[in-house]
Amino acid sequence: MHKKYRFVATTYAGLEQVLAEELIGLGADEVEEGRRSVYFQGDMTLMYRANYSLRTALKILMPVRNFKIKRVDDLYHQVSKIKWEEYFDANQTFAVQSKVFNELFRNSMFASLKAKDAIVDRFRRVSGSRPSIDVSRPDILINLHISNNDCTISLDSSGESLHKRGYRSGNHEAPVSEVLAAGMLKLSGWNGKESLTDPMCGSGTIVIEAAMMAKNILPGETRKSYGFQKWKNYNEEIFKNLKDQHEHRQVGYKIYGSDISRVNIDLAYRNAEKANVLDVLQLDIADFRTLEKKNDSSFLVFNPPYGERIKSGDQAFYAMVGERLKHHYPNTTAWLISTNECLKSIGLRPEVKIPLYNGSLACSFREYKLYKGSKKSSI
Ligand SMILES: C[S@@+](CC[C@H](N)C(=O)[O-])C[C@H]1O[C@@H](n2cnc3c(N)ncnc32)[C@H](O)[C@@H]1O
Repeated sequence: MHKKYRFVATTYAGLEQVLAEELIGLGADEVEEGRRSVYFQGDMTLMYRANYSLRTALKILMPVRNFKIKRVDDLYHQVSKIKWEEYFDANQTFAVQSKVFNELFRNSMFASLKAKDAIVDRFRRVSGSRPSIDVSRPDILINLHISNNDCTISLDSSGESLHKRGYRSGNHEAPVSEVLAAGMLKLSGWNGKESLTDPMCGSGTIVIEAAMMAKNILPGETRKSYGFQKWKNYNEEIFKNLKDQHEHRQVGYKIYGSDISRVNIDLAYRNAEKANVLDVLQLDIADFRTLEKKNDSSFLVFNPPYGERIKSGDQAFYAMVGERLKHHYPNTTAWLISTNECLKSIGLRPEVKIPLYNGSLACSFREYKLYKGSKKSSI
């Protein structure tokens, strides 16, 4: 288990640095930031730990071969050279997920199909039987990335994306991803030792992720399975020990979440219960228009509602948010994520602006420092 491998952790644009810091904290070697990814080195135990503990990673991939392609057939030949039988058995199912930026391939599906044929044909040749394809719940997920003529094929050790912690139930109309929420909390510099408020908490993602950090609950604690558990070399004892060694922390303050909608607060309550953080949270139905600052909470992180295009109602809403912060939240640090256009109407000068994406929507994550008698600015 101590042999070292090279891995790639993927994430959202803008979260590379916080992910790199998390990896260094776990003891990863040769940590190097890429585009929406962080490269690192470590043994299989570290890979288990990365899947179980990282708050800002979406996937942990283990590259098994990197090669150049000039013709479509090069993909088939290179993939069939890989000793897939060392990673999994013919009686397991698999799927190939591809991202292709190369004009040789009509689409990603075509590249997936070529790689799949190569894997199936190799199994037939070496073992006489072949694994089946299961695109919805495969035992083994294989990741293919082709950019120009550079091709990397990896085993996906996570399987389902790591933002699926397992605590979410029901549907909020616009929840923020668990990984983005954790990333925003880390970018905000919130130290996990003081109270935090999300006054538009929806299904509770930001306050739940904050409470998990405060209690030292790892994202994997509510998740059922990972891709690596189906690999041939999976060592259950090591994974079990790693989980058993982990300890939670006592938290001596409250994390506050509120929302105008009763349905959303019910949803947040159910999610928080599943995530085992209800003891740290206080969840209330409240309209931000009349919500007063909690005496013991001077740090706000929230994502107000916004659409693809700003409407006049949005401008008035953001102006209200700015006014409310200015007059009712003295000596507070407020971080908001929204579109640049919406945030123009808030009328407060940001200290910091960090570009992020919420899904495919370009957003800005901004810090506002509210002092007693903050000046309204035209920015
Ligand atoms: C973009 S969603 C927040 C999603 C949340 N971060 C999550 O992960 O579920 C915005 C939320 O603001 C709430 N909201 C809208 N107007 C509000 C108001 N005046 N006061 C408090 N909450 C409000 C909506 O009900 C909605 O849940």
